[in-house]
Amino acid sequence: MTTANHLEPYIQLSGISKAYAIGGETVPIFSSLDLKIPSGDFVAIMGPSGSGKSTLLNMLAGIDRPDAGCLRIGSSRLDQMGEAARASWRAHCMGIVFQFYNLLPMLTVAENVELPLLLKSLSARDRRGRVEKVLELVGLADRARQYPVSMSGGQQQRVGIARAIVADPALLLCDEPTGDLDRKSADEVLAMLRMLNREFGKTIVMVTHDPQAALHANRTLHLDKGAFIEERRAA
Ligand SMILES: Nc1ncnc2c1ncn2[C@@H]1O[C@H](COP(=O)(O)OP(=O)(O)OP(=O)(O)O)[C@@H](O)[C@H]1O
Ligand SMILES: [Mg+2]
Repeated sequence: MTTANHLEPYIQLSGISKAYAIGGETVPIFSSLDLKIPSGDFVAIMGPSGSGKSTLLNMLAGIDRPDAGCLRIGSSRLDQMGEAARASWRAHCMGIVFQFYNLLPMLTVAENVELPLLLKSLSARDRRGRVEKVLELVGLADRARQYPVSMSGGQQQRVGIARAIVADPALLLCDEPTGDLDRKSADEVLAMLRMLNREFGKTIVMVTHDPQAALHANRTLHLDKGAFIEERRAA
């Protein structure tokens, strides 16, 4: 795995607005949200349920689009991209980790991890090589042929992380990555994220409800009523 280019991605949101139509009414989630995250940062985002943390993460992932404002990641203006361009951006520039892993039960661990590589023009041999490498990195090299159902939550989340990094994106987005795990498994997953940040230069944005999980990040931003407050910055 290559180390991320330290100039990219630089995440910049300015004047971001997003609203949802709920029961015929337009409910604003953000009305003028600003945020800057330098390359190589590891940011935890906390905030009450419904404050828009997942909405924000989905915008950073290029899944959702803001209604207005500028959303720049590296040299890409995600707010100006159409669906096809965002799909390509997603495939090349970011990896995402979900609370409930989102692994496909009918595929083996190796096949799950290989999925993002099917969007790239790589030979089967190269794909296999990359899958082996990331499974080794997350300590699951010997589990490649197993199915997710036979694994613990912590192991499944490590498969989720392997899948998120197999295409070597500079940006890793995590939505409650430890929300379904006991303390020990959570700490293992968090140590892994820290390693990816420190040793491989991945920029990480992690949404969490768990103050202990947030301590693993470089800083914590609290999202409430459509705005950010910075709570803590590591010394
Ligand atoms: N697709 C959607 N359609 C309509 N409303 C939505 C949609 N997605 C989110 N919302 C609303 O937007 C608000 C923010 O939701 P979001 O999921 O971003 O919150 P959250 O901070 O991630 O909450 P939680 O901590 O519970 O995961 C909520 O009021 C939610 O009901
Ligand atoms: Mg959420």
